[in-house]
Amino acid sequence: MLTITQGYKPEYVDRIHELETACFSRVYRQQGFGKLLMDEAEASLQKVGVRKMRLEVQVDNPAQVLYFKLGYRVTGVKNNYYSNGTTGVSMVKPLKRRSF
Ligand SMILES: CC(C)(COP(=O)(O)OP(=O)(O)OC[C@H]1O[C@@H](n2cnc3c(N)ncnc32)[C@H](O)[C@@H]1OP(=O)(O)O)[C@@H](O)C(=O)NCCC(=O)NCCS
Repeated sequence: MLTITQGYKPEYVDRIHELETACFSRVYRQQGFGKLLMDEAEASLQKVGVRKMRLEVQVDNPAQVLYFKLGYRVTGVKNNYYSNGTTGVSMVKPLKRRSF
């Protein structure tokens, strides 16, 4: 149903979390689960000190709409980033400091 892989930095020394992959089976898309998952992931990561989320997405992938709506912004492009030669778009979102 859902596959999610995230880059793992044991102690988050640089306080940056790399989101590797997020993918739902087609029947579960466009129902709010992606936003829910990202919101939960960001909240959990904030709690362990992460201050910035980072990801790459294929230039022609409409998933960018979701990332824009969540507050991610483009920081660069990487030519031939994917094995099929497609360009990657780098996106970043700062996470606000939380008080508990
Ligand atoms: C990307 C993905 C994980 C998003 O999950 P999702 O459950 O479909 O997203 P949501 O339903 O939570 O969408 C949240 C918002 O983003 C928008 N959005 C999400 N995917 C979109 C798409 N493909 N095209 C246009 N808008 C999209 C929705 O319209 C929604 O906006 P709203 O809240 O204003 O209605 C899912 O579509 C997927 O598995 N895609 C295939 C794999 C993929 O491309 N992964 C990303 C690799 S970087």
